[in-house]
Amino acid sequence: MKKAIVIGATSGIGKSISEILILNGYAVGVTGRRLEILKSLKEKNTNKTFYCQMDVQELSSIETICDNLVNQLGGLDLIIISAGIGDENKSLDFTIENNVIKTNIQGFTCVADWAINHFKKQGQGHLVNISSIAGLTGNGEAPSYNATKAFQINYLEGLRLNAGKSGTNINVTDVRPGFVDTAMAKGDGLFWVAPVDKAAQQIFTSIKRKKKVVYITKRWRIIGFLLKIMPYSILRKL
Ligand SMILES: NC(=O)c1ccc[n+]([C@@H]2O[C@H](COP(=O)([O-])OP(=O)(O)OC[C@H]3O[C@@H](n4cnc5c(N)ncnc54)[C@H](OP(=O)(O)O)[C@@H]3O)[C@@H](O)[C@H]2O)c1
Repeated sequence: MKKAIVIGATSGIGKSISEILILNGYAVGVTGRRLEILKSLKEKNTNKTFYCQMDVQELSSIETICDNLVNQLGGLDLIIISAGIGDENKSLDFTIENNVIKTNIQGFTCVADWAINHFKKQGQGHLVNISSIAGLTGNGEAPSYNATKAFQINYLEGLRLNAGKSGTNINVTDVRPGFVDTAMAKGDGLFWVAPVDKAAQQIFTSIKRKKKVVYITKRWRIIGFLLKIMPYSILRKL
């Protein structure tokens, strides 16, 4: 039986992927801050689900919690990081920006580093992170969200290069969703909003194919291309 950990499995994309993994025969270790939801996930699939409460901002506890989950699962083939936050912050309140940085940069990096080091020791493994198409450009209304997603995109490439030099069989997948219908997708002007189960199914297919970079849903690749070539004169009008 394959074994996976999902960081941020209590709602949205992470919860939906956890359910898909269980349906596909994985044993899954789920994490998040909301303990009651973790317990209810365990109750639905007692034999195949393990949980540990985790706040990725509490960096000093991450290694212990991940090791603990691996012990409960009896190994690890796949880890998916879906914990992430973002907030509109036109007034540039540093408390808001710092909170996003602590979760999307510090928490993400701590978990991703633990995963790659663990996979190096065992010679194989697959790290998946849900970044965002937002990481391809700046955003005046939520500067820290787009900037932290840009960090994740770049860091994942670094980890892929780092692991590639270790002579091991480690895969790194960067998942870049457009809009997905979850608590996070808020505000006006949303379009091509994917149902969360459709997005999670496409992510699972990409994981099986061990893709390096994937846009969710697929047509968001077009927007990704346009964002990369868009002149500033157009960007500032969006
Ligand atoms: N929805 C979209 O349109 C969209 C588009 C592009 C990218 N994404 C990315 O997809 C990822 C998942 O988001 P979602 O849309 O599924 O939103 P969501 O439903 O709000 O899920 C966010 C998950 O992250 C967890 N989380 C947040 N802060 C955490 C912390 N400090 N420690 C541990 N877990 C934490 C939450 O669990 P707890 O609250 O229980 O801790 C929850 O399980 C995020 O990284 C987001 O940036 C989403």
